[in-house]
Amino acid sequence: MGYRCLAELQASLAIAVCVVCFHVFVAVRGMEPHFYDQSCPSAEPTISSMVQNYYNNDASIAPNLIRLLLHDCFVRGCDASILLKSTSGVHVERDVPPNLSLAKSFDLIDQMKDRLEEICPQVVSCADIIAIASRDAVHLAGGQYFELLLGRHDGMVSRASEAMSMLPDLHDSLPRALQAFQAKGFTTEEFLTLLGAHSIGTTQCSFVEGRLFNYEGTGRADPRMRAELVEELKSECGQRSGKRVALDQGTPSKLDNSYYKQVMQGRGVLQVDQQLYLNTSGTNSGEELMEHLVERYARHDFYFQTFFQHSFKKLGLLDVLTHAGEIRTKCYKTNS
Ligand code: HEM
Repeated sequence: MGYRCLAELQASLAIAVCVVCFHVFVAVRGMEPHFYDQSCPSAEPTISSMVQNYYNNDASIAPNLIRLLLHDCFVRGCDASILLKSTSGVHVERDVPPNLSLAKSFDLIDQMKDRLEEICPQVVSCADIIAIASRDAVHLAGGQYFELLLGRHDGMVSRASEAMSMLPDLHDSLPRALQAFQAKGFTTEEFLTLLGAHSIGTTQCSFVEGRLFNYEGTGRADPRMRAELVEELKSECGQRSGKRVALDQGTPSKLDNSYYKQVMQGRGVLQVDQQLYLNTSGTNSGEELMEHLVERYARHDFYFQTFFQHSFKKLGLLDVLTHAGEIRTKCYKTNS
């Protein structure tokens, strides 16, 4: 067995062990998988069927819900603060530009909440609805199904300024983006795995135009983007603003390892995606690790899927409230 195979086997075992450890050891006080079994047994089936119905008409809800979880959990933890509307004229999280494209998820979660309030009033938190709906979105898009810890409470505060400083920024370099995830307790592997969510969904053309027409003021395309892709995206985006293009040009609606294959071919759409694999054979150990992982995921969908569900579950447990906070009756406003 060659060194590379051995290294791969070791890495795979590490992932397997790590995932097992996670299942065994993660316990968050006040949270459990069957949290609503007594108080609202139809909570999960109701949410799941509403996600499924929406998805049947519009599959773009899946990436939208997945991004909703990230953008909620990254600011004040997974407390549904992203859903609160401004009452006093002060800007809230949902008003900031990176969250504007999440409007359809905001509406869907509000509808789910209304339905659940009819069945079991003041029992199911908006934060748990987001967690369940985004887990279902992962599964509908082709990812593994997994059980969730439930019992989150909803937060009482939402501030636009916090969202602007904490949410991933398109212009961040890879080290800076990685640092932001590390500051939230994610490892390099988990960060790279979560970015695999870009295996579904779309981006506004305006977020890639810099790479197509005037990369870093050169007046030319980003040399790291494959020339064919530059032409494809230029023609897809055209002159009209407001168009969107797939983040994964291989299998755009399937959550799978195609994203990593594309990135290896210089077909990463966003700058942050392409930076994972610059094909420089890694000039430092961090880059080397990332490039190894990209190659491994590109070869083995199962490893990607397994570690994705682990990382996504971890994302959904970020700074959860289980004692403070409340169970809102409307997701867009606090009770008082
Ligand atoms: C650190 C780096 C990241 C940056 C800079 C970034 C940036 C972006 C941008 C600019 C878009 C397009 C948004 C739009 O046009 O509406 C996008 C879409 C998306 N992002 Fe990320 N992202 C990052 C990390 C992540 C992570 C960790 C996840 C996983 C949870 C994720 C999930 C998604 C999804 C699913 C979409 C598609 C949304 C849709 O189609 O509605 N992103 N991201």
